[in-house]
Amino acid sequence: MIKAIRSAVVFVAGLMLTATAVAGSNSVEAISERLKPVGSVCIQGEECAAASGAAASASSGPRSGEDIVGSYCGACHNVGVLGAPKSGNDADWAPRMAQGFDTVLANAINGLNAMPPRGTCGDCTDEEMSAAIKFMSNAE
Ligand code: HEC
Repeated sequence: MIKAIRSAVVFVAGLMLTATAVAGSNSVEAISERLKPVGSVCIQGEECAAASGAAASASSGPRSGEDIVGSYCGACHNVGVLGAPKSGNDADWAPRMAQGFDTVLANAINGLNAMPPRGTCGDCTDEEMSAAIKFMSNAE
């Protein structure tokens, strides 16, 4: 009988210890720490919004034709993949340019056969596309 009571006491004491441990990790502080947002939203007019706006405008401005060709067009136009007119090769570009620059530019923007629209540079402006074509065709 005494033995049974003793083991019941040990059991209850064990339960209490466990309960305390669980309560520790579920304290209000512990929970709110875990619920903290991963990122934070920046509302216009707040200090953080001004900082991110400045960073965005600092990187704007047209990229050079050389940059665009280096990042996008060169993958096909440097070696003439799938019949692409080769960058810097006048003989490849002459028949293209004979169509008139506006037509060539429109074809590059809209895509032409294996040439993807905007040459895979989805965020290239028309101005940047024009600069890239001029760079590759030695037009400037
Ligand atoms: C996936 C390969 C590929 C990429 C990347 C690519 N081109 Fe092309 N491009 C081609 C091919 C192939 C042609 C030839 C299409 C034809 O005449 O059938 C072509 C043709 C052109 C022409 C000639 C259009 C005409 O009217 O004859 C221009 C201009 C051009 N590309 C510009 C660009 C520019 C600028 C970029 C980068 C922003 C670019 N291309 C990226 C494959 C590519």
